[in-house]
Amino acid sequence: MFKINENYQKLPGSYLFSTIAKKVNAYSTANPDRQMIRLGIGDVTQPIAPAIIEAMHKAVDEMGKAETFHGYAPDLGYDFLRSAIVKNDYEARGCDISTDEIFVSDGAKSDSANIQEIFGVDNKIAVCDPVYPVYVDSNVMAGRTGTYDAATEMWSDVIYMPCTMENNFVPEFPKETPDIIYLCLPNNPTGTTVTKAQLQTWVDYANKVGAVIIYDAAYEAYISESDVAHSIYECEGAKTCAIELRSFSKNAGFTGVRLGYTVVPKELKCGDVSLNSMWARRHGTKFNGAPYIVQRAGEAVYSEAGKAQLKEQVGYYMKNAATIKAGLNEAGYTVFGGVNAPYIWLKTPDKMTSWEFFDYLLENANVVGTPGSGFGPNGEGYFRLTAFGTYENTVAALERIKKL
Ligand code: MLT
Repeated sequence: MFKINENYQKLPGSYLFSTIAKKVNAYSTANPDRQMIRLGIGDVTQPIAPAIIEAMHKAVDEMGKAETFHGYAPDLGYDFLRSAIVKNDYEARGCDISTDEIFVSDGAKSDSANIQEIFGVDNKIAVCDPVYPVYVDSNVMAGRTGTYDAATEMWSDVIYMPCTMENNFVPEFPKETPDIIYLCLPNNPTGTTVTKAQLQTWVDYANKVGAVIIYDAAYEAYISESDVAHSIYECEGAKTCAIELRSFSKNAGFTGVRLGYTVVPKELKCGDVSLNSMWARRHGTKFNGAPYIVQRAGEAVYSEAGKAQLKEQVGYYMKNAATIKAGLNEAGYTVFGGVNAPYIWLKTPDKMTSWEFFDYLLENANVVGTPGSGFGPNGEGYFRLTAFGTYENTVAALERIKKL
């Protein structure tokens, strides 16, 4: 008789955004006359920029001709894209990263879930609390997190680093030494970030204790302050302790196109074993390369026209962020984030729990957000709104919230 992976049975409930989608669909079905405004999941609303669409059309045409047709993509990514990434995301910021340290994938969500596979199950992970749920859930599936305590909503073998308004959402070094540290900066869900100097202390700490940092930089395009690092490799010594995850979803609207990449520096080693070789082996075995058309689209992100159009797109979403922040402040809420990230994190009013506020907003304003407690116990009493809606919907949502 076959056996299942029992670790899956330990997962409490369903994936956060699936739970929310079910709740919202049930409400919409029961109230078909209500115009819902969805500021929950961080999904983009603006169309793919013209320079990228043009590159995709060209690539589609190439696929239709025998002489320019492409079959399987190189499993680690086409050189044209890996070179564009190195030049624009690293060389331009003074980071010494080479093309064979870039692994192109179908997005940062899968990479952030899969990267744990190259580490032993006896590694101890440390996560910020609140946290993007994929980091913890993927480690639960792998059997690395111990037992779940429903009362505290914590796993026995996970180190939690609280990020609350009391510490300005900046994690402190944990008392217990971790092996793997997940950092998402600028942060999802709090929309806050740390300075480059603060990030440097994490790099120094990881190098000192022999830990690896899984650095999720999916939101780096939204950084507006000059003392914030766009890549962890801007910090001295990061190549011996950090893996960086990057996404094309948020900076270029690829949530439905799917493209991302992971950087594993060659200096990152466990004894004599290179993590770069391990990830190449894993990628080569389990992934057949992102589609040619999509990688050409990714290359166009770095064209002059693409860069200009995407700067405008990021500006559009950040105008939404400013609108949400100003509107909430006006309505008397305590608000964080939205300066270097497309998320706004607010304190729920009148000591409502995060889910109580979710229901209140859904039923009274027909606005969908994300309950902070869905990201971890220290998210309780907070709520997340995304700046990825349309400007018109964002303005309308705030008008509704102000009237409550
Ligand atoms: C979010 O809403 O947290 C993100 O959209 C999730 C993701 O990027 O997978």
